[in-house]
Amino acid sequence: MAEVIIVPDQATAGELVADAIQALVRHRPDAVLGVATGSTPLPVYRALGGRGLPLDRVRAFALDEYVGLPEGHPESYAAVVRREVTDPLGLDPARVRVPGDTGALRTAGEDYEAAIAAADGVDLQLLGIGTDGHIGFNEPGSSLASRTRIKTLTEQTRRDNARFFSSLADVPRHCITQGLGTILEARHLVLLAFGEGKAEAIAGAVEGPVTASLPGSAIQLHPHVTVVVDEAAASRLALAQYYRDVYAHKPEWQGL
Ligand code: F6R
Repeated sequence: MAEVIIVPDQATAGELVADAIQALVRHRPDAVLGVATGSTPLPVYRALGGRGLPLDRVRAFALDEYVGLPEGHPESYAAVVRREVTDPLGLDPARVRVPGDTGALRTAGEDYEAAIAAADGVDLQLLGIGTDGHIGFNEPGSSLASRTRIKTLTEQTRRDNARFFSSLADVPRHCITQGLGTILEARHLVLLAFGEGKAEAIAGAVEGPVTASLPGSAIQLHPHVTVVVDEAAASRLALAQYYRDVYAHKPEWQGL
């Protein structure tokens, strides 16, 4: 089962996950990180930014990207990764890939899978979760075995993400995303969620049945998952008290 850590606020979550990344990079200076975009991982990037870690040998793969935005659009995930990850952390942009960055959409999925395999896979994959339960942009109904491919965003996701655009009409309908099968091959999954709006998706992902109808539930198939949530996002977890007890008595040597 996933380790579920309930934290008081986003800053605490950011520091906790930054600790795990710092430990990974210390142990493996050429670690491969899986980076997520959206609002959720920002506290992690902020916490990492303050640590001055040597990241010159680290590589990173983004989870997903919109399809159809003009080149250089500030809300493209390539631009977000540059703004929130590579620039502040001093990570060489040439060592970071975003799906579809080769321009050839027809072969972009296979190309991305090959690039991840050539890097010997992802060591630590950061994940957020959509209010409809998506991880990456694997919307409800996505195959649990899916690989990197083009998907159509749900109306719910487009509405949720409209806050980043001038209007709902400007939110792309299509995206390219690592598949659930791709994500499950990362060696450590770290799923973060904050706020009441994520409570139902988190309860389904952690404690519900494993089902393509709630793609986040695929994490239950993975042997090493850490879920870091604030009180509001944890509010529908039936076993919340148990998770608190487990964490309170966790042996120090264990790490995340
Ligand atoms: C982004 C991604 C998505 C987001 C999810 C939550 O790369 O893969 O799954 O994590 O849509 O978005 P926020 O964090 O903005 O609530």
